[in-house]
Amino acid sequence: MRDSVKIAPSLLAADFSRLAEEIRALERAGADWLHVDVMDGHFVPNITIGPPVVESIRKVTSLPLDVHLMIHRPERYVGDFVRAGADILSVHVEASVHLHRALERIRALGARPGVVLNPATPIHHLEHVLHEVEMILIMTVDPGFGGQRFIPGMLSKIRALRRWLDREGAPAELEVDGGIKLENIADVASSGATVFVSGSGILKTPDYAATISGMREEIRKARAAGGGFHEAKGISLPGGG
Ligand code: DX5
Ligand code: ZN
Repeated sequence: MRDSVKIAPSLLAADFSRLAEEIRALERAGADWLHVDVMDGHFVPNITIGPPVVESIRKVTSLPLDVHLMIHRPERYVGDFVRAGADILSVHVEASVHLHRALERIRALGARPGVVLNPATPIHHLEHVLHEVEMILIMTVDPGFGGQRFIPGMLSKIRALRRWLDREGAPAELEVDGGIKLENIADVASSGATVFVSGSGILKTPDYAATISGMREEIRKARAAGGGFHEAKGISLPGGG
């Protein structure tokens, strides 16, 4: 799974008055997944969309919908989002007292469970769910808004998680989200990410196709130069690695 690369444009940066058109443009431009940001004004200081909009998006695309729930106690709503058409449904570690239950519920409903860490949350919080998830999302900005700056300190966190997943033989995708652009995607790729969310980095550029293919090329070069993924040095892993 680590050899595959997925580019997931975030619809948060789209023109919502022309959402179907934007989605068609992203499909033509070669997007692999569509990233959908759900915010509740409680877990994060912003409000975006809910299940009816996800349902409308589902009607106009067959691309996998990667739905990122930035909502408090997400276990209350996972059923609504899976029914609306989420393929991958991710919940924040910090938002759920019953994380394991939320993840099990997502899988039982037929979607792929993912788990998300805020920048300040250590990776050891994943220890007991590592094998329950199909994707781990490392936030590379504090969630709530598009167009923020990538936090450089997240590169060592991504490397540490990469090493841990490899050591465990855990097949989960490693997704990154926040401030990812053509200019920094190579660093993120050589740290070991496999799924790259980008909102303004794609949708605020004039030619989505050129940006996405440029990103793929940067990732390819970074992987070729690093012989795969760089080893994280001097970072201690949960379980002492
Ligand atoms: C931030 C969201 C991101 C956001 C990314 O809370 O989770 O998905 O849309 O936007 P950019 O790529 O502009 O940082
Ligand atoms: Zn997101």
